[in-house]
Amino acid sequence: MNPRRWIVAAAVAIATVATLNTLPATAGRPYDPTDQSLRNLGLRHNLYIGTAVDMAALNDPAEPTYRKIVESEFSTVTAENVMKWESLEPTRGVYNWGPADELVDFARRHDQRVRGHVLVWQNQLPKWLTDGVADGSIGKAELRDLLRRHITDVVTHFKGKIWQWDVVNEAVSDPWDTPSTLHYKGFWAEHLGPGYLADAFRWARAADPKALLFYNDYNIEAFGSGNPADDKTQFVYDMVKDLLARGVPVDGVGSQGHLGTQYGNFDTLQVAAALRKFAGLGLSTALTEVDVRSEMTDGVRAGNPNEINPRLQASAANFSILLQACLAERHCLSYTVWGFTDKHSWVPGTFPTEGLASIYDENYQPKRAYNVMRADLIYAGPPYVLPRVAPRPRR
Ligand code: XIL
Repeated sequence: MNPRRWIVAAAVAIATVATLNTLPATAGRPYDPTDQSLRNLGLRHNLYIGTAVDMAALNDPAEPTYRKIVESEFSTVTAENVMKWESLEPTRGVYNWGPADELVDFARRHDQRVRGHVLVWQNQLPKWLTDGVADGSIGKAELRDLLRRHITDVVTHFKGKIWQWDVVNEAVSDPWDTPSTLHYKGFWAEHLGPGYLADAFRWARAADPKALLFYNDYNIEAFGSGNPADDKTQFVYDMVKDLLARGVPVDGVGSQGHLGTQYGNFDTLQVAAALRKFAGLGLSTALTEVDVRSEMTDGVRAGNPNEINPRLQASAANFSILLQACLAERHCLSYTVWGFTDKHSWVPGTFPTEGLASIYDENYQPKRAYNVMRADLIYAGPPYVLPRVAPRPRR
């Protein structure tokens, strides 16, 4: 390196270290060196640490610890269910904003940013909508109109209060689906064709020019074969690249991060490489729904430490891999866990033979994963980990 370059590099390094130690008030609070919570440690990197919030648990007077942990450990929140279409409009034309408004208000009072989840998804749709389509009383033109109205009404209602919107969720099939060649799947693709994706992002942008608009999906943590016919990450990459080329206002890609200790999963460098590749398209990224479940064998259920310990350690390792990858990539804005306690995890309800997926146990005791995440946030810094790059919403 020539001397002048060296001086510039040194100046940048010094400025970066200075920034890390005296970060400005982000997430509404300055970095506090005595506070070891996830949210505060994340501030050193301007990285937001989040959780999905179950409103019933948040409001349960018998569960003060749930609320306390949401407040103290997280700088961003996601509605686990109350911003889904079936919750917001259970009866056609009659909106139920209450629970979602309550979460947005809670977040404001606790200096937290809100990830809006979710505008377009094939699950948790209201019955009046799916029944209407099934019996033919809602035709294609009306369906498209209903989707436009839904997106417009919801984004307008929360305008200015949502940091990142999951505009479209889980639009792409998996290799175990039929046909096994990856394709656009689900209700919206079947009834409207894949054009609904571009429409959805454009309608969302029209209703809130400042919110960051995300495509969100699972099993896109790392690239595989590179063939979009069987590599879901590649399929999604090609998809967003094409949307951007057509001027569609996509700002980010959310990688859900639902992992299981029984699978091979990935290492930090693979995940960081994937995040970097999306950033190469000019996109922000986020880990949006991280949890790492395990098979609940008879031994695990009986409390056998020989079976429990390896699972807790493997779970912690996977939380860490995704967090380190996010830290390594400056366009990765937030890292959200899909619920923080095994007591309220969605996993046993959806995968009845699995569990142990969260960073706190059923009694709100932090697990190894929680401390591993804190360690990652504590021991990360320049030159490999630098503060996040603030994105500008695409027009
Ligand atoms: C899940 C919730 O956690 C459950 O409470 C609900 O019964 C079903 O949906 N991917 C997503 C989330 O994008 O919305 C899902 O949340 C989990 C998988």
